[in-house]
Amino acid sequence: MKLFVYSLREFDEKQYFDYWCESCGVTYSSTTEAPKPHNLHLAEGYDAISIITTPMDADMLAVLKKGGVKCVSTRTVGYDHVDIKAAEELGMTVCNAPYPPNSVANYAIMLMLMCCRRVTHILKRSELQDYTLNGKIGMELSNCTVGIIGTGKIGRTVIEHLKGFGCRILAHDLYQQKEVEELAEYTDLHTIYRECDIISLHMPSTEENFHMINEEALSEMKDGVILINTARGSLIDSAAMIAGLENGKIGAAGLDVIEDELSLYYYNFCGKPMDNHELALLRSYPNVIVTPHTAFYTVEAVEHMVKNSIAGCLHALNGEENPFKVV
Ligand code: COI
Repeated sequence: MKLFVYSLREFDEKQYFDYWCESCGVTYSSTTEAPKPHNLHLAEGYDAISIITTPMDADMLAVLKKGGVKCVSTRTVGYDHVDIKAAEELGMTVCNAPYPPNSVANYAIMLMLMCCRRVTHILKRSELQDYTLNGKIGMELSNCTVGIIGTGKIGRTVIEHLKGFGCRILAHDLYQQKEVEELAEYTDLHTIYRECDIISLHMPSTEENFHMINEEALSEMKDGVILINTARGSLIDSAAMIAGLENGKIGAAGLDVIEDELSLYYYNFCGKPMDNHELALLRSYPNVIVTPHTAFYTVEAVEHMVKNSIAGCLHALNGEENPFKVV
């Protein structure tokens, strides 16, 4: 198999591509550039491509297909950036590359703790050598009722790990799982909104859940609720969240993802004026932590992303059963 890798990060992924491609007899070439219409010709003559979160629309897929590409693998769990319907119509296979859920689950709990203990504010004030206690008092995660929306692999792992803190845990998902029922109480969204001190989102982005956390949902929540989002920015209506932060409905937010982040993360804008006003506002609040979609980013996860991306393409091209196949 000939694989073309877009957005290759030489500082962390390359060692794994070198190792796993050689072990599996795969020939690969790469670019550090993200796939864009002007560089799709690079993949001509390759069987498969590996991408990260750059949008892959119907026109781009058609160009790739014409150049001989049969499989598109995204080195991510989420695949909302790929036009799945178009790929299916073109007869192309799309795969994702799951990695162990601990990376994101650990990070979600870290954001919960940082929000409960006002860590952004404490660090900012410490930088100015303000070591007073006034305004820094926190609350204990162990005494919180935590709502987990989405109990797939990541949500379930968050629940398992939170159990050790002794919190009361409520959960919501369209599909309920037996293992979760033993650790948390499944309930409807209204109950989660009404009863939880912390609400953490763990579902993929779909048309149905676009802006599910909006003004109406927020109005049902407790005053001072903590929102944690390590899933997808589209789940929260940013304008409603900003209003909620300004009027005190939201006590704190830990946001590893934001709306319209694809043109921002993972690029370096150091020293440049940015035109993302919502991000600028969110970054200015002392009770908000914004991180650039780094919850996944561990040594363990990166190796799995690369290995499973290669494996998905190989299974697809060899006509084998493919656990990584999306369509
Ligand atoms: C995913 O795997 O879906 C993620 O959210 C991480 C990715 C953006 C690198």
